[in-house]
Amino acid sequence: MTTSEILKNLKQLLMELKDNTVYDCSVIDVSKIHNEAGNITVVENGENTPFDVKRIYYLYDIPGGEVRGGHAHYELEQFIIAASGSFDVVLDDGKNKKRVTLNRPNLALHIVPGLWRELYNFSSGSISMVLASHVYDESDYIRDYKQFLDCKK
Ligand code: TYD
Repeated sequence: MTTSEILKNLKQLLMELKDNTVYDCSVIDVSKIHNEAGNITVVENGENTPFDVKRIYYLYDIPGGEVRGGHAHYELEQFIIAASGSFDVVLDDGKNKKRVTLNRPNLALHIVPGLWRELYNFSSGSISMVLASHVYDESDYIRDYKQFLDCKK
């Protein structure tokens, strides 16, 4: 990649980080194959994901009253699914907040880059499955809320 291409990509990223709002996030029904012996939900890369999935991780054994998240990402896009149980996600773009309850394994919350998020109200035994557009990279995190607000100005 040339220097000017790198700079162009960087500008694009900073624009997305700054301009994305909670209204750019939505809950997507990723389909359900109904079966009396038990349902199946299929997530197929590129078919019903809005980005290429590079990593899957899941949160489980979450103690009652715990809050997860508490950060934003410069570049990462995510699909968050309540694979079991339920929990709430609060999205924050620095101006608006939106609370989403995830409680069905066929519903995925698509989170675009540049949004602060917190996950809480985890039901006992719940599992939060996350499909992510990039491999883990600590330098993609904004963990300081004031720094996040500065980025959104
Ligand atoms: P973090 O993303 O802050 O958790 P959450 O948003 O769910 O509260 O990650 C918690 C810790 O786990 C942090 O020290 C980094 C580490 N971690 C990895 O090493 N790889 C990963 O893919 C993820 C998601 C986290």
